[in-house]
Amino acid sequence: MAKRTVICASPRAMGKSARVAKGLSDMLAKRFPEDDVEYIRLADLNIHHCIGCNTCEHDGACFMEDDMAGMLDTLAGTDALYVVSPVYFAGPPANYKAFLDRLQPHFYLQTRKAPKSDAHLVVVGDGGDPNGYDPLVVCTRSALAVGGFKLQSVHPFIGADSSDIVSRLSDDLVEGECV
Ligand SMILES: Cc1cc2nc3c(=O)[nH]c(=O)nc-3n(C[C@H](O)[C@H](O)[C@H](O)COP(=O)(O)O)c2cc1C
Repeated sequence: MAKRTVICASPRAMGKSARVAKGLSDMLAKRFPEDDVEYIRLADLNIHHCIGCNTCEHDGACFMEDDMAGMLDTLAGTDALYVVSPVYFAGPPANYKAFLDRLQPHFYLQTRKAPKSDAHLVVVGDGGDPNGYDPLVVCTRSALAVGGFKLQSVHPFIGADSSDIVSRLSDDLVEGECV
């Protein structure tokens, strides 16, 4: 049994990313009935942004008491991670960046040198910005690598509606071997 975790990275609990992430989560549960599929919305969590104090360098953990500790536990038990994120000015929305930055304790725990689990990024955007979404991908790849994940695939859906995205993801992520 594998543990598959789907994270909706949007600050909006009921937006397009949430619809896509829920659809993906349902598809994964159907395709892999033996697996444990967990769906998490960052919008439901309280994750403060990193303040760069480097307490985690000495303590191995952040001093802040919020929902990130639970997320680190979830990630530690995750075999395949799926992040669905909107693009904000080519990069991640602030709440998702806060989550990524709070992976920093793993930098000092040397997690990045251990074998990595697979991660996949679904990019949701409305388009109209000529600057693309590379910063979102790079921030995700960089922080998840420290957190113990290798970003294996990126699935950009700029200007598509959520039901279209879910059906197209089916081919890319669910039917194909992803772990
Ligand atoms: C502050 C802000 C910046 C955005 N920047 C971009 C962008 O650079 N490129 C893009 O395609 N869409 C951009 N969008 C549109 C969102 O990515 C799009 O509306 C997405 O569906 C929002 O996800 P949600 O429905 O899960 O909240 C931006 C939206 C906001 C609020």
